[in-house]
Amino acid sequence: MNKLLKMENLERHYETPAGVVKALDGVSFEISEGERIILLGPSGSGKTTLLNCLSALDSPTGGTYKFFESEVPRNNSEKMTSFRRENIGYVFQFFNLLQDLTVLENILLIQELSGNKDFSRAKDLLKLVGLEAEIDRFPGEISGGQQQRVAIARSIAKRPTLLLGDELTGNLDTETSNKVMEALVGACKQENITSVFVTHDEGLVKYATRVIRIDSGKIISDEKIDNQYDGV
Ligand SMILES: Nc1ncnc2c1ncn2[C@@H]1O[C@H](COP(=O)(O)OP(=O)(O)O)[C@@H](O)[C@H]1O
Ligand SMILES: [Mg+2]
Repeated sequence: MNKLLKMENLERHYETPAGVVKALDGVSFEISEGERIILLGPSGSGKTTLLNCLSALDSPTGGTYKFFESEVPRNNSEKMTSFRRENIGYVFQFFNLLQDLTVLENILLIQELSGNKDFSRAKDLLKLVGLEAEIDRFPGEISGGQQQRVAIARSIAKRPTLLLGDELTGNLDTETSNKVMEALVGACKQENITSVFVTHDEGLVKYATRVIRIDSGKIISDEKIDNQYDGV
């Protein structure tokens, strides 16, 4: 597998009146194309900070971060935005669908914003996440799990290299979480997208090819796992 990215001794320190908070305290790892990584850790361990650094939403205060061998921009919002636009997809916990647009229109809008409206691809993406029957419904007319699957289709519409999610099943029951994760694994495989998902739900580990555990801003374990679920 080709190397996608590499972080070395990455730090994100915050200066606060009470002293320095080491949200990330020397994080090192590589990610290869095609990996599906679950990032686990207790509240406050640095998971969101790490995702924000991976997506160049936040600037590390130390260490290196390379993406396809190039330094990822930091402390420059214009360059950081274009890095994100070119490479990163994001799935949110609270779906963030536009309520006045249908399922299909939510996808078409995102395509339009990134300058490549493609009706048949939009429909294919919705089919990929099992929503071909719902394309003309409004978000308020489908379940939470279905809405999250629309959000997944939307997040991969621009073919991101790296897809990130922070507690993206945090709002869903176990059965629905499983359906969402199955849709996600299928979509990532089909579109050849590498992914990193933050959760504190150990039950999602079965969808990953690798599990990284973080505590107090440090990686405490990083293991490849036998694939229990590899799509259908
Ligand atoms: N803007 C900030 N200023 C100061 N400390 C922060 C800030 N953002 C996050 N932190 C601290 O960094 C640590 C990691 O936070 P976070 O990455 O949000 O953890 P997690 O997502 O694992 O719950 C926590 O101790 C948090 O309080
Ligand atoms: Mg968090």
